Amino acid sequence: MDRVRNPFAPGAGTPPPALVGRGEVLGNAEVTLARIKQGRPSKSFLLVGLRGVGKTVLLNRIQEMAENQGYKAISIEAPENKRLPALLVPPLRQILLALDRSEHVNEYVKRGLRVLKSFAGAFKLSLGDFDLGLDIDPEQGAADSGDLETDLTELMLAVAQAASARQTQVAVFIDEMQYLNDDELSALIMAIHRIVQKQLPLLLVGAGLPQLVGLTGKSKSYAERLFDFPKIGELKEADARNALEEPVRREGVAFGQTALAEIIRITLGYPYFLQEWGYHTWNIASVSPISLDDVRAAQAVVIQRLDASFFRVRFDRLTPREREYLRAMAELGAGPHRSGDIADILGVNVHSVAPLRSGLIKKGMIFSPAHGDTAFTVPLFDEFMKRIIPTMKAPRSAKLHPPISE
Ligand SMILES: Nc1ncnc2c1ncn2[C@@H]1O[C@H](COP(=O)(O)OP(=O)(O)OP(=O)(O)O)[C@@H](O)[C@H]1O
Ligand SMILES: [Mg+2]
Repeated sequence: MDRVRNPFAPGAGTPPPALVGRGEVLGNAEVTLARIKQGRPSKSFLLVGLRGVGKTVLLNRIQEMAENQGYKAISIEAPENKRLPALLVPPLRQILLALDRSEHVNEYVKRGLRVLKSFAGAFKLSLGDFDLGLDIDPEQGAADSGDLETDLTELMLAVAQAASARQTQVAVFIDEMQYLNDDELSALIMAIHRIVQKQLPLLLVGAGLPQLVGLTGKSKSYAERLFDFPKIGELKEADARNALEEPVRREGVAFGQTALAEIIRITLGYPYFLQEWGYHTWNIASVSPISLDDVRAAQAVVIQRLDASFFRVRFDRLTPREREYLRAMAELGAGPHRSGDIADILGVNVHSVAPLRSGLIKKGMIFSPAHGDTAFTVPLFDEFMKRIIPTMKAPRSAKLHPPISE
């Protein structure tokens, strides 16, 4: 099939040719945005799900919806090495400057700028003083204590008040939220808590791996009531079908029924895998309808692509011991698995690998769906681990008791 017309879009945050199966989340987001606009109470929400399910795509889509409703939106991604104040200050500054550009001077907006300047000073961030206006002095005693929880709350309140004074709303989008550290997460939760209490028009929409739910709860026990946590998962069969059929139909092409069924069986309906399979099957097929043989012929290319990119980038960040742990997990299948069973496969005591397991959770490789359970955050990672490390090393206990020879 003509590669130029290939409609599929495998990638990170790349908008899919058909965004299917997310009507409920998007509908709820629309209502939340509209309620906040009307000054009605509404919850911020954090999208949680495994790698490649479409969280970033949804965040971007909801940001568009917010902007269409007149919100001022900012979006950041929490990386593992840059801190939250440094990430938030530049876009918040832009919002305040935009609010300041309206015709009449507004005291709340000016105060927002002063608080921002204090905050930036307290966290030693350069702001480009010139851009803020020479007449802006820091607001002494506001957002400058050096305590992130207090200061971030003051800053976000000041921004929300400034927006409110201009009859507008702010939406803050944060991707990969599981990478925020404890202080940052609790500061953010505290800020949202105060904003809700004051009924100010600021909404937080976050996204992260499943561990985000536990992290917020550990940070502030009221977080579970403060936020909604919509679960973003694999697509239902009918949706997965649409994800494949709709885009090709627009190009005058069809999938054979057995071909569709096979892709859905292999991908388990995970959005990223559907895009990869759709993409390569299209390229390999020469006539419509795309057949089961085409799917089979694409298999080697797809697996090779996934192994060299999607899976590989994760694997490369692991220490040898972490690889061993994940390989042992893979031995047990897709999961979730009891942590004790994984330790058994490794031939070690479950407590002795607890720090290793925590490290892997922090890195975003695994999570704990229930107490004592462990699961991969990357769908189909078990199969990949078996491909990249075909045979497991002998368990440690075997080394402790070497067979007696001679
Ligand atoms: N509803 C959907 N239907 C079909 N394809 C989708 C859907 N949502 C996302 N995709 C596709 O899935 C892929 C992954 O999307 P995205 O990067 O948003 O996932 P993610 O959950 O943010 O992953 P990660 O946790 O790795 O950041 C993209 O190629 C995107 O086009
Ligand atoms: Mg993402």
